[in-house]
Amino acid sequence: MEFRFNLHQLFRSKIVKINNSLLPSAFVAASRRGALDATAQISEIINYIGQLSAAAQGLTNPVTTSQKLRNSDHSIYLLFEPNDKNGLVVGYLKIGKKSLYVFDQNGETQNVAAPCLLDFYIHESRQRTGLGLILFQYMLDNEGIRPEELAIDRPSEKLLGFLQKHYGLYKKIPQMNNFVVYEGFFTGKQPAT
Ligand code: ACO
Repeated sequence: MEFRFNLHQLFRSKIVKINNSLLPSAFVAASRRGALDATAQISEIINYIGQLSAAAQGLTNPVTTSQKLRNSDHSIYLLFEPNDKNGLVVGYLKIGKKSLYVFDQNGETQNVAAPCLLDFYIHESRQRTGLGLILFQYMLDNEGIRPEELAIDRPSEKLLGFLQKHYGLYKKIPQMNNFVVYEGFFTGKQPAT
C-alpha cells in the first residue's frame, strides 16, 4: 500500500507500534507541526488499511479505524517495506486487553482480563510469504506473551490455518461468544478485577 507522502520518516524500523497517541513508539517530532503531520499520516494509513482488512474479511464496517484506536488502549503494529520511492505499508495487526467471560476446560464460566488479537491483515500481494509470521512473532516477543494466551476475535479460516501451521494451535476450548481460545489459555491467568 503506497501513500502520497513519504513513509520513511515515520518508519525508522520495519515494524512500529502505535497506540492512542497515533504516533509511532520511537517517533521524535522536530516540532509541534511535525507531530501533527505525523498523526494525520498515521490516521490515513490506519483508516486505509483498516478498510482493506475489512474487505478481505467480508466485513461491512472496519474493525480498525484511527478514531477507534484513539479512543482505546489498544495497540497496532504496522509492517513497513522500504523502497526507493515512498515505501509501502504491507500489513498490520491490532491487539488489546479485554475483560471476557469464557468457558474453561470444565465448561465453567471464567471472567478474565485477556490479551486479544482483534485484527490482522497482510496485503494480498504479500500473503503466504512469511510476513504474517514475522509481524505476529514480533508482537508476541514485544508484549512478552505466548500465542495460546491470546483470545482471538472472530478468526478467519486463513488465521486458523496460520495459527495451526506456525504455532501448532488447534485444540480449541469451545465458547459461546465470537472469541476462540486454545488449550493453555488459562495457564497463569488472573481473574478480571
Ligand atoms: N488460505 C489458507 N491459509 C492461508 C492463506 C490462504 N489464502 N493465507 C495464509 N494462510 C495460512 C496458511 O496456514 C499459510 O501456510 P501455507 O501457505 O503453508 O498453507 C500460512 O497462513 C502462511 O503464513 P504467513 O505467510 O506467515 O501468513 P500471511 O503473511 O499470509 O498472514 C494472514 C496471515 C494475516 C491471516 C493473511 O493471510 C491475511 O491477511 N488474510 C486475510 C485477512 C484475514 O483473514 N485476517 C484475519 C482476520 S481474523 C482476526 O484478525 C482476529
